[in-house]
Amino acid sequence: KRHLPSPLPLYSPSRALKGQRLPACILTGLWGNELGSKMQIQQVNEDGSFSGEYRTAVSLAPRPVRPASLNGSQHFDERGQPTFGFTVNWKSFSDSTTVFTGQCFVDDNGKEILETMWLLREKAKAPQGWEATRVGTNVFTRIK
Ligand code: BTN
Repeated sequence: KRHLPSPLPLYSPSRALKGQRLPACILTGLWGNELGSKMQIQQVNEDGSFSGEYRTAVSLAPRPVRPASLNGSQHFDERGQPTFGFTVNWKSFSDSTTVFTGQCFVDDNGKEILETMWLLREKAKAPQGWEATRVGTNVFTRIK
């Protein structure tokens, strides 16, 4: 009698969905996004606050790009996939400010991503300059 292999499941529920513990996603480290920008996040303090340095690969500013400091805050959630936010003050070469908000995810293989959205305010000459705010998304993966 022929032995038929058991059918493969179409999907396998992830550990997260089964309620099993995943390793916590740690923001500290060197991250890169799809534009080629890099950011280094220093150690996260007990209250969730952190700081770091952002090196953007792209810019609107006429001056040459320089590293810029970032300051943020993260949650500590039970499942280790915390939401966070940080501000980049581009004062080293630009009048703009960018705020990022996002969430750190770890998949079953331990690969971490930072899924983020950002708002960039460039300096306008007068209030209600509709063109002064840009919005976008960036996904960061760990370099180191
Ligand atoms: C400026 O152009 O005035 C400052 C640099 C802005 C870079 C933006 S911030 C959002 C987006 N993500 C990046 O990594 N770089 C751009």
